[in-house]
Amino acid sequence: MKTLKTAAAVLAIAATTMTMSACGARDTSAPASGGESAPAEGAISVGIAMPQKTSQNWVEAEDMFKENCAEQGIDCTIQFANGGVAEQQNQVSAMIENGVQVLVIGAIDGSQLGTQLKAAKDAGITVVAYDRLLTNTTDLDYYIAYDNFGVGQLQGQALLEGLEAKAGEGPWDIELFGGSPDDSNSLKFFGGAMDVLQPKIDDGTVVVKSGQAEFTQVATQGWLPKNAQDRMAALLTSTYQGDEVPDGVLSPNDTLGRAIITAVEQAGKPVPVVTGQDSEDESVTLVTQGKQYSTIFKDTRPLVKSTIALAIELAKGAAEPKVDGATLDSEQYESMAGNPVKSFLLTPQIVTADNAADVYKDDAHRMELVNAAK
Ligand code: BGC
Repeated sequence: MKTLKTAAAVLAIAATTMTMSACGARDTSAPASGGESAPAEGAISVGIAMPQKTSQNWVEAEDMFKENCAEQGIDCTIQFANGGVAEQQNQVSAMIENGVQVLVIGAIDGSQLGTQLKAAKDAGITVVAYDRLLTNTTDLDYYIAYDNFGVGQLQGQALLEGLEAKAGEGPWDIELFGGSPDDSNSLKFFGGAMDVLQPKIDDGTVVVKSGQAEFTQVATQGWLPKNAQDRMAALLTSTYQGDEVPDGVLSPNDTLGRAIITAVEQAGKPVPVVTGQDSEDESVTLVTQGKQYSTIFKDTRPLVKSTIALAIELAKGAAEPKVDGATLDSEQYESMAGNPVKSFLLTPQIVTADNAADVYKDDAHRMELVNAAK
């Protein structure tokens, strides 16, 4: 698939854009459709506000949203906010002013869009949170994502399995990393992982040697690899002197997992069991080779396809929309205490060297990476 083949290259460009945006340049995303596939007059209109491209899945989502909108003949405006929260707030406000019928939002900071969501509600716009929950609001209508708590549980299980398979006799020393504190997913990932790991910490099977086991101590601001690499390097200096090494490291995603591996390699130490998420190109290769122990596959194709299908149903006024392949959960996610959100949850898959070829069998691009890495 051409789209996916170029994803790594696009991610590299995205990283450059992010650097540029820090110096004042702006992301100038264009409306999704035009030319031959331009939507008909009066077509359904959807605003898609995305965060920074902090991982490959966001890059893939952009192309897939464009393709799906064109296929469905709907009018989509897709914008990324590489400049940060204020830029995303402005983009959402502009979409509301332009009269979109449905807003799909992947927030940078899910708690910072309350004013815009209120304006959306007042304008009769239906709001769908995409991948990341929107919080601090009662004006959210739906949430669609992979099961984030489930992702964390899979990461915790993979870490334990990896330790058993690769780290000799326990007890095992581990370190924990979390995602960005402004992304509501980060706490879910960490909570899911700790759901599995805490009993093993309590019974002494694993030891968090640095003692840093609270989310606030292990979070990685902005999902930036540099922050994870620096913290790992600092941990190696403070906690693992001489021949000592951690046996395992919980990493919330692939970008950070690779940064952790780099820090360990730079310290001249053997690579521990490291988890991840997203099935990013480089990590698919590392997992197949056994250097990164695991990743997670949250196939962006069905998530985007289902999101567009949901947006169309909502624009047509469906009161009880359905999403094929997703479980409707009305309890787990609250946009505010006591305000549960109807959430369509897709099922993530764990990937290790053992099952990579099976998990990716319907993804030609990732299968190519697996075959090349063997
Ligand atoms: C997404 C992850 C991604 C992270 C950083 C999270 O909200 O769910 O898939 O790795 O953001 O971009």
